[in-house]
Amino acid sequence: TDEGHGILTAKEQSALNFGPGGDRLKKQSIKGGLLITFEGGEGVGKSTQAERLFHKLESLGVDSVLAQEPGGSDLGNNVRRWIKRSNSSSPLAETLLFEAARAQLLHETVRPAIEDGKTVILDRFTDSTLAYQGYARGGDIEVIKSLNAIATGDLVPHLTVLLDADPKIALARVSNRPNLFDSEQNSGPKRVDPEGERRFEQAPLKFHQNIRKGYLELSKGDSRWCVIGANQAGHRIHDAIMKRARRLLVDHGVPEALFKR
Ligand code: TMP
Repeated sequence: TDEGHGILTAKEQSALNFGPGGDRLKKQSIKGGLLITFEGGEGVGKSTQAERLFHKLESLGVDSVLAQEPGGSDLGNNVRRWIKRSNSSSPLAETLLFEAARAQLLHETVRPAIEDGKTVILDRFTDSTLAYQGYARGGDIEVIKSLNAIATGDLVPHLTVLLDADPKIALARVSNRPNLFDSEQNSGPKRVDPEGERRFEQAPLKFHQNIRKGYLELSKGDSRWCVIGANQAGHRIHDAIMKRARRLLVDHGVPEALFKR
């Protein structure tokens, strides 16, 4: 990793904003806030990596918030439960549900946090709707783009991490994974869908291949995206994400020294 053991100079220390007590590190806030999103198909390890980034940023003193879509609000949790159980919605109806949950999460959590200078990490965002309801379910891409813009008030992530994997491999991981619903170790946002109620995970392979194709298409030539192969050790994926996140944070005024402790 690139973590060193340097002792901070006085200048670096003052850049780190020590609080009035003098010995307590004040949390790093960023003017205008930051939004980092995680995307990918089923079983790519997205939620684990989103949590890992969140804990790392918190440990560095970067004031952060972690949330999951759909979820993070009463409305969002209900949409999540509903979407996992129902098989009957049209792509547009599904899109509108996800957008409603998104608008609520934006209103309750994301907007206030970024206005407060926080770094918001989202486990899925607008690109999920494009990949799932658009590319995989055949919904109109331009309509989804418009609805995304309406639901978010045109908020575009500063960085989107795409964890990319062949769905054949990723789906095998899903069927083996422990029940995250009950997991004590899962300290991030809790999923409200019990195992066995994950509708998309049971869709045909072609559906998952279209999701992957959609994401790769979306990320092509767009510097907001950071595409990482998901079939590597978790710590390698985390290091690759941190490298990119660090650049983003430093570009937004977080002192380099913070990452060297
Ligand atoms: P996950 O948190 O396990 O990925 O579950 C969320 C599910 O909802 C996943 O199958 C992807 C799906 N989804 C969409 O289809 N469209 C969306 O816009 C979002 C946010 C999620």
